[in-house]
Amino acid sequence: MLLIKNIRQVLTLRGGASPRSGGEMRELGIVEHGAVLIRGERIEWAGPTRDLPARPPRARFQVIDGVGLDLVALPGFVDSHTHPVFAGTRADEYNLRCQGKSYQEIAGLGGGIRASVRQLREATMDQLVARAQRHLRQFLQHGTTTIEAKSGYGLSLQDELKILRTIAKLKAGNRMELVATLLAAHDVPDEYRSSRARYVRAIVEEMIPAAAREGLAQYCDVFCETGYFTVDESRAVLLAARKAGMGLRIHAEQLSRSGGAMLAAELGAVSADHLEWADDEDIRALKKAGTIATLLPGSAFNLGLPRYPPARRMIEAGVPVALATDFNPGSCFTLNMQLILSIACSQMKMTPAEAITAATINGAHALEIADRTGSIEEGKQADIVLMNVPDYLEIPYFFGVNHCVAVIKKGNIVINNLESA
Ligand code: NIG
Ligand code: FE
Repeated sequence: MLLIKNIRQVLTLRGGASPRSGGEMRELGIVEHGAVLIRGERIEWAGPTRDLPARPPRARFQVIDGVGLDLVALPGFVDSHTHPVFAGTRADEYNLRCQGKSYQEIAGLGGGIRASVRQLREATMDQLVARAQRHLRQFLQHGTTTIEAKSGYGLSLQDELKILRTIAKLKAGNRMELVATLLAAHDVPDEYRSSRARYVRAIVEEMIPAAAREGLAQYCDVFCETGYFTVDESRAVLLAARKAGMGLRIHAEQLSRSGGAMLAAELGAVSADHLEWADDEDIRALKKAGTIATLLPGSAFNLGLPRYPPARRMIEAGVPVALATDFNPGSCFTLNMQLILSIACSQMKMTPAEAITAATINGAHALEIADRTGSIEEGKQADIVLMNVPDYLEIPYFFGVNHCVAVIKKGNIVINNLESA
């Protein structure tokens, strides 16, 4: 058993079974001077340290005692939008963007997603696993215990399956929990440029059925955007995915208002992601459909774009908002969810409490795993992180540093830097 006690604040995020919206997003269920008792993989009890249940005689406990330290415990971050399997970085494109070139201009010059595709096709699965493992370790070190992982840099049957099999392998051998998404509709690869329709057909007729047959992807995603996939192409892909039993997610309204949010609502997608250009009509449609708005403010930040998603209007309209990193080598090269909280608060005017809700329990809802993770409640998986701060407000306030000093995944201490606290 593992006992964590004398923690200045335990942010339990306890509460109902649906995604948090409106004022609920500000309720963190804080227990001051808290404790959490863990048996095996699960949380047995959480509450004030003084109310700890009596220990059974001779029970063996491993103890983390926060007495005299500044520690805040919260659920491990659930990062519900990442692209973690790639073969190389694109720092050269970053250099160009710093000199004023736009993401789309660079893509037009043969860079962008297709540059990552060229690199990935050359790589072996072992190379992909090794690089991704390094990044998974970094995610954990920054307090993330579950990620969604997209394919999308293969763009051929063989290479998309190579990525999904890499993700399957990472699932097996890792402390990090991964949820896989097929993103074959990320871009049209060079060999299909003269016939987009044939590529969409290849996704619908070959890639989706193959991924479904091998049980490699729980979700399917589409980059619905001017210059990438139209609403009609996106719909065709997503309908085929639904038929194959996959859940739906969409990259929507990232660089322009392209119709992805309305499509997400029409199809009842679990999540519409990005949404920088979403307007009030989109927000109403998402609310009505019960689709979660997953905001990725790190990408506007990293691309140097002035426009952030209208988080306030979404929260006021009652749309459940999740936050994720969008970790990828092109538009957003960070896996630090703490930094995403800072950007969400300062640039989108989310409160720190709303941002934490968005990055934990609502992220879990966006992956439909909130019944077992995303909050510190009896019976749930013990996915808990300890931040070296006296108050949770300091997690986004003191930004660009890693406050995380311990990570517990399914009851195991997987990161322990407590001596530095
Ligand atoms: O979410 N928008 C599409 N996909 C990524 C960028 C991928 C890339 O540039 O490699 C995103 O921002
Ligand atoms: Fe993305």
